[in-house]
This record gives sequence, C-alpha cells and structure tokens, in this order.
Amino acid sequence: MPRAAIFRPSHTLDTASEQSFRMTDLNYVKVEWDGEIAVVTIDRQDKLNALNADVVGELGEVFSNLREDDEVRGVILTGAGNKAFVAGADIGELATMNSVTGVKVSRDGQDVFRAIELFPKPVLAAVGGYALGGGCELALACHLRIASERAQFGLPEVGLGIIPGYGGTIRLARLIGLGRAIELTLTGDTVKAERAHEIGLVSKVVQGDSLLDEAKALLRRITSKGPVAVRMALESIYRGLDTPTGEALGFESAMFGLLASTDDMREGMHAFLEKRKPDFKGR
Ligand code: COA
Repeated sequence: MPRAAIFRPSHTLDTASEQSFRMTDLNYVKVEWDGEIAVVTIDRQDKLNALNADVVGELGEVFSNLREDDEVRGVILTGAGNKAFVAGADIGELATMNSVTGVKVSRDGQDVFRAIELFPKPVLAAVGGYALGGGCELALACHLRIASERAQFGLPEVGLGIIPGYGGTIRLARLIGLGRAIELTLTGDTVKAERAHEIGLVSKVVQGDSLLDEAKALLRRITSKGPVAVRMALESIYRGLDTPTGEALGFESAMFGLLASTDDMREGMHAFLEKRKPDFKGR
C-alpha cells in the first residue's frame, strides 16, 4: 500500500476549521489538527465505524505519520457520528476467514493497536457510542479513555464463536482486573458508560455534545507538561507490564537519569522556583 501523505495545514491558518482537512488518499480515517492535538476520526458510519481491513490499514498509516510529526503532542481517537465509537471488527469480513487468514486478521489488527499503545505521545480514546469487540479493544490500546453517557463497552466475540483477537484478552484484565475481565469476556455483556467508569474502564463520563471539548481539555492537561517526561513515563509504565520488577525498576532509573540531561527538566524546575509557568520545548 502506498504511504498515505499527511499534508499538515499551514500554521498561518488559525482556526480549527480552517486547519481541518481530509487526507486525500484515505477513505475511512480523517485527521484534524487543533494546535498541538491531532484528532483522528474513524468514519464509516453506515457500518457503525466497524473495522474492516482498510480501516485498520488506514489507522496504521495515520499513526505512523503522526509519530513523525514533532508538532503533534497528543492524539484523540474517536468515531464519527453519535452512535458508535467502533462497533467491532467487520463481521462480514470475519465470516469469510479460515484458520490461516484468521491469524493474519488478528496479527494485522494487533500490530496497529500495539503501535497505538507504544505511540510516543498520549493517545486518548473519546468514546461517544458503541465500543464493542474490536472497538473496545481499540479503546483499550489507547493510553486514556473518556466516554459520553451514550457509550457502551463490551466484548461480544464469544457470541459469534470467536474470542477477542486484537489484544482484548490481555488488556482488559490489566485495566479492570481479572475477575471483571473474565466475566465481561465470557458473558459478552455490554456495560454502559457509568458502569464503565465505576470499574475503571474510562476516566470520566461527559455529556455527548461536549465529548471532544472534554477530551481536548484532558489531553491539554498532559500536553502542557514536559513532552519528553510524558513520553518516558508512558515507556516506563508499559515496560513495567512486560518485565520483571527488578529490570523494570532499572529501566525507570535509566529514564529518570536521562531526563536529568534535558532542557525541559531545567526549565520545569526553574519555572517552579521562579514561580512561573514552564515553557517546555520537548528536548
Ligand atoms: N461489522 C459489520 N457490520 C456492522 C457491525 C460489525 N461489527 N456492527 C454494525 N454493523 C452494521 C450492521 O450490519 C448494519 O448494516 P446494514 O445497515 O448494512 O444492515 C449497520 O452497521 C447498522 O447496524 P444495526 O445492527 O442495524 O444497528 P442497531 O442500532 O440495530 O444495533 C449494534 C447496533 C451495535 C448493537 C449492532 O450493530 C451489533 O450488535 N453489532 C455487532 C457488534 C459486535 O458483535 N461486534 C464485535 C464484532 S467481533
């Protein structure tokens, strides 16, 4: 697949709507910028934004492009329309798989979701409707999640004779605990936004029409911090999930030491001592 070009709009354009544009060679994923935040929207509304192979491929392209954009300090991932974040992997496509293509479908999705999880800047899922199956797994791969009161989460795969194949059997238990994850995965039950909040699946529940504004406000609380520190914190947290404690602590110390060599650390500490706001440069 040819690499999708992201033509970031000129910074001389000053309103969010002027800065909005659709990447020319992508059909289902739209990117808009609002200052240092990129808003990535999955837009396949006639199928409730279900993830077919093209959507998964386009998401991979977009995140790989945004990774290289130094001016992007955080990403919001959302679904178009007010009905769904993403209603799952595309069941029409899944119905045609065999045991060989099934592995590929799962690996392709896992690779893109892993790239999101390892994305070096914070990624926040803004969930405004159904986040089922692959949609729930996509939200789980993001670093943070907020929901509108219309959101519903669930892993209905066992009802289709499959299991979650985009990391859901791993990430849900890490986030909400083993017992709750097993119950949700084996029953296929969905939970509404308030319950999702109670069990730690989302950080916050907000009114539907303020979802994007609330998402930006939360993300800006993070992008105002030292970008290198934010990146290292994410790295250390995720490294800690996969490594023995001693090794993970060693990695944390190495990151801590590395940050002592950054301009941002000096700026952050001087700003505190001088009672002013820091002006981080990301280096
Ligand atoms: N894959 C493919 N198409 C999907 C889809 C999915 N995961 N989820 C929804 N759609 C399609 C529907 O087939 C329908 O298409 P059509 O208009 O061409 O028939 C369209 O999106 C609208 O969905 P519909 O079922 O009519 O909406 P609803 O409001 O009655 O129900 C849901 C909404 C989310 C409850 C229902 O669509 C659903 O259960 N979807 C599947 C969820 C799922 O099992 N996901 C995990 C997949 S592994």
